[in-house]
Amino acid sequence: MPAIAAKRTIASHSHSHPSPPLRKSPRRSPNSTPNSTPNVIRKALIPQFSSLSAPLVDRCHTAAVKPNWNPKDGEQLKMVRLALHLSTAPSSVLCREEEQNVVLGFCKGCVEHQKAGSLYICGCPGTGKTLSMEKVKDQLLNWATEAGLPQPNVLSLNCTTLANTSDIFIKILDLNQPQGKKVSATPLQQLQNMYSQKSSIKNMTLIVADELDYLITKDRAVLHDLFMLTTFPFSKCILIGVANAIDLADRFLPRLASLNCKPIVVNFRAYSKDQILKILEERLNELPYTVFQQQALELCARKVAAACGDMRNALCICMNAIEMFEAEIRESACNLNTSLEEKSPNLAAAPDCIEKREFDVVRTDHMSLSLSKTYRSPVVDTIQALPHHQQIILCSSMKRFLGARRDINLGELYKSYVELCKSSIIPPAGILEFSNMCRVLNDQGLIKLGQAREDKLRKVSPKIDEGDITFALQGIRFFQNCLK
Ligand SMILES: Nc1ncnc2c1ncn2[C@@H]1O[C@H](COP(=O)(O)OP(=O)(O)O)[C@@H](O)[C@H]1O
Ligand SMILES: [Mg+2]
Repeated sequence: MPAIAAKRTIASHSHSHPSPPLRKSPRRSPNSTPNSTPNVIRKALIPQFSSLSAPLVDRCHTAAVKPNWNPKDGEQLKMVRLALHLSTAPSSVLCREEEQNVVLGFCKGCVEHQKAGSLYICGCPGTGKTLSMEKVKDQLLNWATEAGLPQPNVLSLNCTTLANTSDIFIKILDLNQPQGKKVSATPLQQLQNMYSQKSSIKNMTLIVADELDYLITKDRAVLHDLFMLTTFPFSKCILIGVANAIDLADRFLPRLASLNCKPIVVNFRAYSKDQILKILEERLNELPYTVFQQQALELCARKVAAACGDMRNALCICMNAIEMFEAEIRESACNLNTSLEEKSPNLAAAPDCIEKREFDVVRTDHMSLSLSKTYRSPVVDTIQALPHHQQIILCSSMKRFLGARRDINLGELYKSYVELCKSSIIPPAGILEFSNMCRVLNDQGLIKLGQAREDKLRKVSPKIDEGDITFALQGIRFFQNCLK
């Protein structure tokens, strides 16, 4: 599993590296690489940052306001990407403390009392299951060492990597009998025999079987045999099955219960908006500068939580928003270059003013664009396929709804529509044509038109999320200003 391998590399790095030496002068030019670097990132990029100042890191961590980043600085960009990268192990797994404690407590109990047992972890993708298990495993091994208990043997595997589902028994057996004695019994039978007899071996075997769904879909018998291993009288197995499917427990637990090996179930619930925001902030807090506008992070967290609460999506969306921001900078640098060239060809050869430009942070409009690329809802497609004037009506209705915070009537909406058209020097449609367009929007389920004696008095209310309108129209140049 490359992601886990990467996490391990970073984690082991972080343990082995000494604190960086102190450095006196903290002053640097605004465009240079910053002089403070976060723990995890610093450790991951040790060769480049070996001379960083530790006190400065602390000072920046506690500082209320950080300076804005400079996206043109390659090193900064690299560190930001690293902070948001899926495979970068966060220094702490926030918002999963409770779940981790349940699993750790369970494992400790098994090790302490040399008692076998099974636990089943489920939850939607990107809810921190794999990440948490990595932490629990490390914590368990540290705890066993400190408590002077026999270290459990650990088998951590992703079931999708098994060529044959029953290979899992070979792997468990290998942990217990590395020399691999030649016997005619199958690995499963050997394990069953082993766990049926008293043995002098005190070490327990922790099996973390990630992506367990694979075994269920491929071969239920293997799954049952696996969980059954924990029920043998002298079993040393602590089995932790991890799966994405939430209904899996219902599908296979009743059978396991009838086999007398029903595992404890720990449910990893989807991250809420506040949790996603906290995790993003914590990861970005490792950096000594501000990269995102706060509202942009909040927008991302809100949308991802509403969609599925998948942390992976949140991180990817932030990463893509940075790309949108970079593209904007490139474009504006290009435009500036062109205008300089037009004014004075000599100046353009040394675009010093581009370098001196005050750098900004990733804003909500970049985030909206990035979100729309990830969550293309059918509503977004519908809005984008609308004729331009109907899009303008939707945009003005959204602004009116947000401003008025109440239902408005068609006459009021018409006024807003005319204003928006005029501000962009577009001739507005007449009121008759306008009401026809509103009827079309009503039929498409994009707005709701009430009944009234006069068309002008018909109530208009929102039918779709304002975010969908923003997503859909954000990419269209005409709407860029009015959506801000
Ligand atoms: N609590 C958290 N703190 C920091 N990053 C997290 C957290 N939860 C998830 N992530 C990020 O999301 C990625 C996906 O999490 P993961 O544990 O693989 O999810 P799951 O196994 O539930 O599908 C992780 O690699 C990590 O980068
Ligand atoms: Mg996983």
